[in-house]
Order: sequence, then C-alpha cells, then structure tokens
Amino acid sequence: VTQSTPYTSLPSVVLVGPPGAGKTALLTLLERGDAAISTHTSQVPQSIELTVSVDQHLSFREAVKDDAPGEHKKFLLVDTPGHGKLRNFAMDSLVAREGLKGIVFMLDAATLDENLAATANYLYEVLLALQKRVSSVKTSKTPSAINVLIAANKSDLFTALPATLVKSNLEAELGRIRKSRSKGLLASGVGIDDVDNGENDDWLGEYGSEKFTFGQMQEFNLEVDIVGGSVTEGKVDKWWHWVSERL
Ligand code: GTP
Ligand code: MG
Repeated sequence: VTQSTPYTSLPSVVLVGPPGAGKTALLTLLERGDAAISTHTSQVPQSIELTVSVDQHLSFREAVKDDAPGEHKKFLLVDTPGHGKLRNFAMDSLVAREGLKGIVFMLDAATLDENLAATANYLYEVLLALQKRVSSVKTSKTPSAINVLIAANKSDLFTALPATLVKSNLEAELGRIRKSRSKGLLASGVGIDDVDNGENDDWLGEYGSEKFTFGQMQEFNLEVDIVGGSVTEGKVDKWWHWVSERL
C-alpha cells in the first residue's frame, strides 16, 4: 500500500503513549515554540515536519531557526491518540511505516503510581509488536535497530517520579504482565511443552527469564532509553537530542 502524502519519503518519529501524557503538547511546543494553552483528547493522528541540525548539539529552539548552523535534516513527527479504542493508529504506524527512525513512548510521571498497570499494558503491546517485527524477519541479515525513548513527562510536578524509578516500576510491572499472560496461555490449553519450546510469542524479552529488564530487548535489536522532562517548562532538549541522533 502506498500513501499519497508528500511526506512519505521523510524519516519519521512516532509519538505514542497513554492519554493525557502530553504528546500533543510536545508536538505543539516543537512546532510553535510554546506549549499549547489547551489541548484536547486526540482522535486522529497528526504529523508535523521539523528540522534538526544533525552535527550540532543545538537546543530545539535554536534548531528550528532557518539560519541554524550545521547540516539540516527534515523529519516527520507523528502524534497518535492515546485512547485505548484509537490505538490502532499507533500500532499500525509502528509496524507499517517505512523510514521509521524512532518511537517516543510518552507517559505522565506524576500519575504513574495510579496508572502503572494501564501504562505498562500499552508499553507491553508496543514493545511486543516491535519484538515480533524483528523476530519475524526470516533472512540472515540482521534487521536494522529500532530505538524507543520512554519520555517521562511532567517532571515539573512534585509527584513526578524520577526516570530511574519510572524505569524500575515499569520493568517490575512488565514482568508481572508477562508472567500473567503466560499463565493465561497455559490455562487456555496450550501445552507446557509449547511454552518451553519458545512458542509463546506473547513473551516479551529474554525467554524464560525470571525478571524483565529493558536490556533484554537488545536481543531483538531494540534499544530502550528512559529520560525525564517537562513540556510545560520547555525541558525537552534531552528528548530532542535523542531524536536528532536517530535521524
Ligand atoms: P491524548 O491525545 O489523549 O492521547 O493525550 P496527549 O498525550 O496528547 O496529552 P496532551 O498533550 O493533550 O496533554 C494532556 C494534559 O497534560 C494537558 O492539559 C497538558 O497541558 C498537560 N501537560 C502536558 N505536558 C505537561 C507537563 O510537562 N507538565 C504538566 N504539569 N502538564 C503537562
Ligand atoms: Mg493528544
């Protein structure tokens, strides 16, 4: 299927994550230079074209200027709706999109305690889809690496967890999800032998391991980084640099 947008040849970075994380707020900040006064629940994906200076460590504010030094590169930033019933947009763009250079999974670090299960469930779906994309390649040539940035937003709020805690909480929860899914499979009549033979393709990360860690995704050529920030305070340069380095 070919898309008839004029953008299909540009490299792209996709923003995914639960509702209210701040995805559209980030898109607006990068597009206009200031955070949106208000956003509303996204119902369709939207894309904007952005420019980075690849060989310079410029802030996003400097990089958008026409006379910014260094080599420029254009890319598409794609915002997707976080609502559970609209996630097909995000999941489709992860699997089908050509020129996909990176995935930013944004979450609200200030409410992660309350939303841990829902957030981790979505992240599990995203990582599993990417894992399958890599493991389903039948040729001997290694598929190109896929990079995932977990952007722990809203660090301006005092309840926000630091990136290290976001990481350990997510790893623990993803491990719980993995375990309960494999039990579900056993209960549904799939034999233990099938599971032991690695035919449980709902298993995320290193097969049979007790604890889940993001490092296990390297086996599937997936790099996962976790970095905090705040759209409201304009503290997004670490995310911006992460994106620049992937283009
Ligand atoms: P969906 O479209 O439903 O998937 O949500 P979204 O991820 O696009 O969230 P959105 O950008 O609409 O932001 C949700 C709310 O969080 C808005 O009221 C934003 O103003 C607010 N918000 C975004 N970033 C920050 C931040 O860094 N700090 C604080 N305190 N609030 C933020
Ligand atoms: Mg939105």
